Amino acid sequence: MTFSEMTEARYSVKKFSEKNVEEEKLKKILEIAGKAPTARNAQCIRIYVLKTNDAIAKARELTPCIYGAPLCLMFSYNIDEAYPYPGETNRNSGDEDCAIVATHVMLEASELGLGTCWVNNFSPSKAKSIFNLPENETVVLLMPLGYASPDAKPLAKHFEKKAIDEIVTVL
Ligand SMILES: Cc1cc2nc3c(=O)[nH]c(=O)nc-3n(C[C@H](O)[C@H](O)[C@H](O)COP(=O)(O)O)c2cc1C
Repeated sequence: MTFSEMTEARYSVKKFSEKNVEEEKLKKILEIAGKAPTARNAQCIRIYVLKTNDAIAKARELTPCIYGAPLCLMFSYNIDEAYPYPGETNRNSGDEDCAIVATHVMLEASELGLGTCWVNNFSPSKAKSIFNLPENETVVLLMPLGYASPDAKPLAKHFEKKAIDEIVTVL
């Protein structure tokens, strides 16, 4: 599959099958995550693999958007390691670093025939407390991961993309 074909094939999976993700596939996905660029290569990001019944139940408590996935990744960053924007008091690279790492994960999962859904419909502070994360971490997103159910399909929204000239300005 070429990169273009992979981006065409990907869609947000909102119905997963119960089939477990093979350990080798999970390992490959996490290796790819580690290759993503991060600000100053500080690698402030942290990935939690929510895999046990207890961890998945907690994820379901946080959001209705786990969609039956057998596992879920939770992306957070270490505030002390994130790159602080010069001259800005409350801005650092943490969200961007998590976003690019999670995008690598999403596309590698797609290459391996797995589905994902990017989820921000939850309270990051509740996630931090429910999983007992260190004080200096901020949770950014959840990503259910697994095989799409045989009857899963993209939502209509998936096909509603703005024309390129609506989002690109050449100056
Ligand atoms: C930053 C971000 C947050 C999202 N949060 C959620 C979410 O909480 N729940 C959900 O079901 N989908 C969520 N999505 C998936 C989007 O709804 C989906 O990407 C969008 O509708 C386009 O569909 P597609 O991914 O199939 O192309 C999110 C996507 C992004 C990029």
